[in-house]
Order: sequence, then C-alpha cells, then structure tokens
Amino acid sequence: MRKKIIAGNWKMNKTPGETVALINELKPLVANDEVDVVFCVPAISIIPAMEAAKGSNISIGAENMYFEESGAYTGEIAPNMLTDVGVKYVIIGHSERREYFAETDETVNKKVLKAFEHGITPIICCGETLTQREQGITIDWIRQQIKVAFLNVTAEQAKTAVIAYEPIWAIGTGKTATSDQAEEVCAAIRSCIAEIYDDATAEEIRIQYGGSVNAKNAAELFAKADIDGGLVGGASLKPEFGNIVNYNK
Ligand code: PGA
Repeated sequence: MRKKIIAGNWKMNKTPGETVALINELKPLVANDEVDVVFCVPAISIIPAMEAAKGSNISIGAENMYFEESGAYTGEIAPNMLTDVGVKYVIIGHSERREYFAETDETVNKKVLKAFEHGITPIICCGETLTQREQGITIDWIRQQIKVAFLNVTAEQAKTAVIAYEPIWAIGTGKTATSDQAEEVCAAIRSCIAEIYDDATAEEIRIQYGGSVNAKNAAELFAKADIDGGLVGGASLKPEFGNIVNYNK
C-alpha cells in the first residue's frame, strides 16, 4: 500500500519572513500522519522553513537543484548544500523550469541521477500542453519524458522516486483535469515504469497529480487507483492546503 504524498510547490512566493509566518499558520492545519506532507520553498527560505517546521510532520523540499557538485555555476544550488541542511525532496523539471529556464528531458535526467546520488528524493515532473492533448499524443509524450528522466536510474532508486503528472494546461488555470483524465495518464506512467523495470517497481513508485488541485477536487483525484497524492501550487499557500492534506478526514 503506497503512502500518499502531498507536496506544496510555493514557486517564487513568500519572503523568508513570510515563510515562517505561513508555516506557523499551516502547521496545525496539515497535521495528518497518514500522508507525507512536503513544502517545497524557494532556496533562500529553506533554512528558516526547516526551523519553523521543526517538531511537525512537514518535510521541507527544494524547488530545483543543479546537476554538478560545485564550481563556476553562478546562481545555482548544489545537491550537498541541500543535504547539509536536511533537505529530503527536490522538485525536478517542473514545466515552468522547462519553459522559462530551458530545462530539457536530458537536464532533468542529470538532475534526477544527481539527486539519487545524494539521497534526495526527486519529485519528477512531466506533462503535456493543450495542443499535445488535442493532437492525441499525450501518452506518447509523457512516456518519452519518463523514459529519458529515468535513464540509468536503478530499480532500487526508481522505487523511491515521486513522479508528478502535471498537464500544463491545468497549472494555475483553475482548469483541473477530470479525475478520469488524470488517472488515465498516471496509470500509463505506472505501466511505463513496469516496462522499464518490473511490476514491483511500478507498484512502489508514487505518482502525484498536479494542476489546480484544491480542497474541492482533492478527494476525488486522490481516490483514483494510480494517483498517490498531489503537487499543489496556488492552494498550498492558503489554509485550504490543510483541507487538501486532510482529504481523507
Ligand atoms: P497549481 O500549480 O496548483 O497552482 O495549478 C501546480 C504546480 O505547478 O505544481
């Protein structure tokens, strides 16, 4: 039985000071030991977020990470900078990073391998555009993203990974995929993992849905057989996130 994982993606929101205030506000609301709760925050807020979340069920994650160990990469964050302060999760290949910061399936793969090397769990994002959905190539597209993201990843590592299926047309638009649309793709991702590895790996890997998840649609989405939680943007910055995390109460 896979444990659900519900992660907030704060994107470029909240100063370090505001982060502490928001975590203090949300802490009591997201108390649910039946799910893993992760807040992925901007790099500069990771340390104060860790302090504020101490003693709670909240894990703090990063929103990005570079694939080199150290060196002349101005502005980047190295994996050991994250592990040094106790980061356990990192979002890799969010569609906004692909769109605005030139990330590709290949750089996603490098980052995924580097995260595993350092014992950080990657939350690996994939998703199609509206045009691709209308062209009927959604599943082919997602399968390609997954196959490249997992190149040279071992089955043991893959079992611990988190995949976030986020249709780009549903992100920040208020247009959620129906639970059947989301389940169709999450099931296809699980089959793809079974093809690359084996059934046991596919059974263990956790697959989230993301894209306008809110307190109203969370329970229906998370009830689907292949949806193991959510990656939540806008609603993760509000008390509503407590209702999403407690979707089963
Ligand atoms: P949203 O963002 O919930 O605001 O649609 C999701 C995401 O980008 O991870």
